[in-house]
Amino acid sequence: VKKIQDALVQLKNGGLVIVMDDQDREAEGDMIGLASKATPAKVNFMTKYARGLMCVPMAPQVAKRLQLPQMTADNTDPFGTAFTISVDHRSTTTGISAFDRWRTITHLADPKSTNQDFYKPGHIFPLVAKEGGVLERNGHTEAAVDLAKLAGEEPVAYICEILKSNGEMARSTELHEMAEEYSLPIITIKELQEYRRNEVSRP
Ligand code: 5RP
Ligand code: CA
Ligand code: ZN
Repeated sequence: VKKIQDALVQLKNGGLVIVMDDQDREAEGDMIGLASKATPAKVNFMTKYARGLMCVPMAPQVAKRLQLPQMTADNTDPFGTAFTISVDHRSTTTGISAFDRWRTITHLADPKSTNQDFYKPGHIFPLVAKEGGVLERNGHTEAAVDLAKLAGEEPVAYICEILKSNGEMARSTELHEMAEEYSLPIITIKELQEYRRNEVSRP
């Protein structure tokens, strides 16, 4: 409970956390931040130290409102990761600088944004979470949206897988080292599932 609460405080303050999925799933760690709290500096930190693909998990109602269709009607990804078509906000130029990605990320979290505000395709990959969150699917997409909801913010996040400097996936040991080095809370999707299962009974 304490670990999840520390992660929520960090997220509410605009910080990043590391979330690990199950060892028998992808066994990867993603850096996660709340889209509504993103800054160009945090986006730059993610591209520099996480180095994976930057995606924006969102609650299904958000994807619906923004009219973002799935990237493919026939999803054959081993985990069914729900990529929509990619986007860039209309205020961007190349779409890929930390500043441009920050513009796209924050506008995806803006309740006033509409489909017309984005170029398609672009350099940010929205992902659609299952309605039931981590209790329905144990992916980073759902973990990120659940954390945003638990933090009481717009249900939109930005995430990026963490690679080692040699290009291999960072596993548990390296992820804990990184968490220590940059003072990032580190949690597992399992812990978040436990937290949510006990939510009802908590005062
Ligand atoms: C997008 C991915 C990542 O694995 C990301 O963690 C989201 O996927 P999932 O919800 O399946 O964990 O593929 O770059
Ligand atoms: Ca994946
Ligand atoms: Zn993942």
